[in-house]
Amino acid sequence: MNMNAPLNAPLFPSTDGHSFRIDAQVYLSTERFKNEIEHVFRKSWLNVGRIEQLPTAGSYIVKELPGIAPSVVITRDAKGALNAVHNVCSHRGQQLLWEKSGTCGGALTCPYHAWVYELNGAVRHIPDEESFPLLDRKQVALSRLAVDQWEGFIFVHLDPEPRQTLKEFLGEMGESLAGYPFDRFSKNCYTWTTELNANWKLVKDAFQEIYHVATVHRRTLKNVANWPANPYGRPLSVALLGDHTRLSISANPETPLPPTALATLRHLPRGADRLPRGVNPQRSSIWMQDIDVIFPNFFIDPSEGNGLLGAYYGYTFWPLAVDRTRFEMKIYFQQPENAAQRWVQEYQKVLLRDVLLEDCKLVEKNHAGIAAGVKPWYYVQKNEMAIVHSLEVIDRKIREAA
Ligand code: FES
Ligand SMILES: [Fe+2]
Repeated sequence: MNMNAPLNAPLFPSTDGHSFRIDAQVYLSTERFKNEIEHVFRKSWLNVGRIEQLPTAGSYIVKELPGIAPSVVITRDAKGALNAVHNVCSHRGQQLLWEKSGTCGGALTCPYHAWVYELNGAVRHIPDEESFPLLDRKQVALSRLAVDQWEGFIFVHLDPEPRQTLKEFLGEMGESLAGYPFDRFSKNCYTWTTELNANWKLVKDAFQEIYHVATVHRRTLKNVANWPANPYGRPLSVALLGDHTRLSISANPETPLPPTALATLRHLPRGADRLPRGVNPQRSSIWMQDIDVIFPNFFIDPSEGNGLLGAYYGYTFWPLAVDRTRFEMKIYFQQPENAAQRWVQEYQKVLLRDVLLEDCKLVEKNHAGIAAGVKPWYYVQKNEMAIVHSLEVIDRKIREAA
């Protein structure tokens, strides 16, 4: 490796064909952070929830896109179609909806002077409209976002007419995951949200490699992903799928599991018998879970229903500031059919909580280390390729916009 390359060298030069290096400024530069908001987040499809959160016509959710859009309303109309608008009345800027979710009927009514909007944002009624003699109803429609769903996941795009459809954006990632029983899992969901003193990419990076598991999770995940034949927890595969990435992870086939894990396995509900081709893509007999990194900030980690975890995770990283990130983690289970399955799910929740606490502490110390400014470069190996790929995609999008 060339340790003395100048700082204006390319961001990720391949030095020996297997190792890459990252400019420390990627995580520290406020200029770069602003570019990421403008050219990455404001120009990407962003996951905001699941369709189960909008169970009936007139259901709504209000979602903050931290760092990007303060408040967005997503509704489901009588025909089942989704609409997304900014939560700002055109009259004098009042927020239309104040709760996080609920039912609004077939219209959005402002609580200030009672302007009424269709769910798609068009004006339906303005009290005393004749006192606004020059008002153009089209001009005072609510500001729209693009919205679409894939496999029950709701995505919005800040541009109401985005260059790519959601289907195009997801590409092979979306096609190869289609058919996984997300809907069967998604009614039983537990959520953790926290804010961390670290750059959003640094937090994300800790979740798109498993090189650290043997060290950081040596107590909570002892003997799970590491064993004598695979001491460093190398993944089964790392696939670059357009802007997205898929890691496939194996479980230890050798060491007997501890009693709690055995009890967990025995009582897990059955999952999918036929998994889509994107889940366990190697069709490995020791497969445990995949980490599907959907650019820029959304992860889906599917497992088989009768696998070690018996659930899937969906999680997002939101950029609050160059050194602050909101982390939203959801774990989805099938509905338990008996008390034993319910107990298993509690066990899984507690285990996940402990693992996440280990990661969260780690990334804050990681940011503090990089912010010390001691090292201009950091190095990653081929099994951390997802980190390199997502940084390269961000870099490309910023350069293309320049
Ligand atoms: S601010 Fe909404 S009706 Fe006046
Ligand atoms: Fe971790």
